[in-house]
Amino acid sequence: MLTTELVRFKELGKQITVLTAWDAISSSIVEASGADVVLVGDSLGMVVLGHTTTLPVTLDQMLHHTQAVCRGFSKPPSKQPLVICDLPFLSYQCGEDKAVEAAGTLLKNSCASAVKLEGAEPETVLVIKRLVRMGIPVMGHLGLTPQSVHQLGYKAQARDKSGQDKIIKDSKMLQESGCFAIVLEHIPGEIASKLKKSLTIPVIGIGAGKDCDGQVRVTADILGLSSDQPPFAKPFLPGRELCINALKKWIESTNLNQESPTTNTSQSKSDY
Ligand code: KIV
Repeated sequence: MLTTELVRFKELGKQITVLTAWDAISSSIVEASGADVVLVGDSLGMVVLGHTTTLPVTLDQMLHHTQAVCRGFSKPPSKQPLVICDLPFLSYQCGEDKAVEAAGTLLKNSCASAVKLEGAEPETVLVIKRLVRMGIPVMGHLGLTPQSVHQLGYKAQARDKSGQDKIIKDSKMLQESGCFAIVLEHIPGEIASKLKKSLTIPVIGIGAGKDCDGQVRVTADILGLSSDQPPFAKPFLPGRELCINALKKWIESTNLNQESPTTNTSQSKSDY
């Protein structure tokens, strides 16, 4: 799918669904769910690598995980979800050349066809314009931007008038710079709704209310696998509990088999 298709979805009023994936098993599940877009988010640094922030994630790690995500798809390429990969911290903050090389490396060596980056500072806007000119589609990300955690924390953003005015100005700037869509994270729903109406590119929300052109979620949160669930991501499954119970059952069955090796022999054979 091309990134321009998402603009068509917005025009048709079709909600865009974006889920994260980080390896082959998660991408095969997300593909089968029918999500439009797979985001290989740098949240994988926290979700699967166990870091407390996204800052330690490297470009090599993003490429490694994106390649695994691509290998997990089983549909023909034209039917696969669009893959967007996060540019990790320090891969685009140090200038346009470095950003083109980082984004190009991801697109050259995986099935990703777009990158996402955070913020709308003047330097970031220059990077976005350069990437777009080089044929690399860019998704913006405003509001709670985890790569700025040491400045913003993980709390809701744009809570006062000046913060709201800034998000509105920055979103317009990202659209003018050539972004094909914008993620708005943890901001008031009224602001996201206003931007959905005023922008021509899709507004994808997470913790930004229901009135967006689409929604993005971290798949581990939806599945209830995270032990530290963000307030705006309601789990649709008690995944952690279900997994732990299944594993406990397997451990119990193993112990039972050990205690009486002669019982239920046919089942034991097929189990092992
Ligand atoms: O890294 C990520 O998973 C993200 C989403 C939360 C939007 O950026």
